Amino acid sequence: MTKPHILQVGPYPAWDQEPLDAAFHMHRLFEAADRDAYLAEVGPKVRGIATRGELGANAAMIAACPNLEIISVYGVGYDAVDLAAAKARGIRVTNTPDVLTNDVADLGVAMMLVQSRGMIGAETWVRDGSWAAKGLYPLQRRVWGKRAGVLGLGRIGYEVAKRLAGFDLEIAYSDVGPKDYAKDWEFIADPVALAERSDFLFVTLAASAATRHIVGAKVIEALGPNGMLINISRASNIDEAALLDALETGRLGSAALDVFEGEPALNPRFLSLPNVLLQPHHASGTFETRQAMGKLVRDNLGAHFAGQPLLTPVL
Ligand code: 8YV
Repeated sequence: MTKPHILQVGPYPAWDQEPLDAAFHMHRLFEAADRDAYLAEVGPKVRGIATRGELGANAAMIAACPNLEIISVYGVGYDAVDLAAAKARGIRVTNTPDVLTNDVADLGVAMMLVQSRGMIGAETWVRDGSWAAKGLYPLQRRVWGKRAGVLGLGRIGYEVAKRLAGFDLEIAYSDVGPKDYAKDWEFIADPVALAERSDFLFVTLAASAATRHIVGAKVIEALGPNGMLINISRASNIDEAALLDALETGRLGSAALDVFEGEPALNPRFLSLPNVLLQPHHASGTFETRQAMGKLVRDNLGAHFAGQPLLTPVL
């Protein structure tokens, strides 16, 4: 049997690349000098796209592959896939939910702790000799017992909230409605009201056109000069211009961010801010989780081409 041709949008670790190369005829778009010319050349052969959460598959890419049957996303977020274009042509879409939930929640909570206790600056204080030369490190802000808001109580938001409960934080959440699995936590429908009563606001929403800039100037200012915004979802959920303005003027206390508009080329204004913790979109970035994500990408492609049910379908 001839191997199905797959368009690969971004690189994967060797432990994923090798089995992909063995099972499929992979076409590495990310290595092409002229992506449009490459797409025009290989597009007609392509029956599957293997992509990553943040890279997705846009309408032009889908249109360049007239025989496309499936898009397999390495990531839980599929906001960068043009779902309407896929749906219109009956193209299946899969993602990698569940396997990354706990790691993403871990990193979000770690970011809150690191930022609140000033651990990055404290590390520098030790390494650059400030401890010996200047004495004690400046005092930082307590975490335990404070009020946390979780915007989006899906799989990741729920795991964040569970962890926060272990730090004796008072937890409230916003979502489209109250969740029956969240009886111990307060439901506050309005994100501005949630921010107003929160010291820490976690953004854990699946991104879509409907959630774009849901965290705007009003939410940010309601969180206030002592508040911290933590984003482990997608940059598009936050109005980044409003966030930068608020961080620069002190209208927002601080932020801890794993995702950025235009990443990895983030807005340089972030780099000069002392009150922001910057992370390189690696919330799912552990060996264990990335191996499980890679396996799901392959298993979904394999199931599709074997005529079996998809493991984790989106469409
Ligand atoms: C990325 C993610 O896919 O799960 C998601 O939606 O954004 C991440 O897991 C990861 O960085 C791999 O590209």
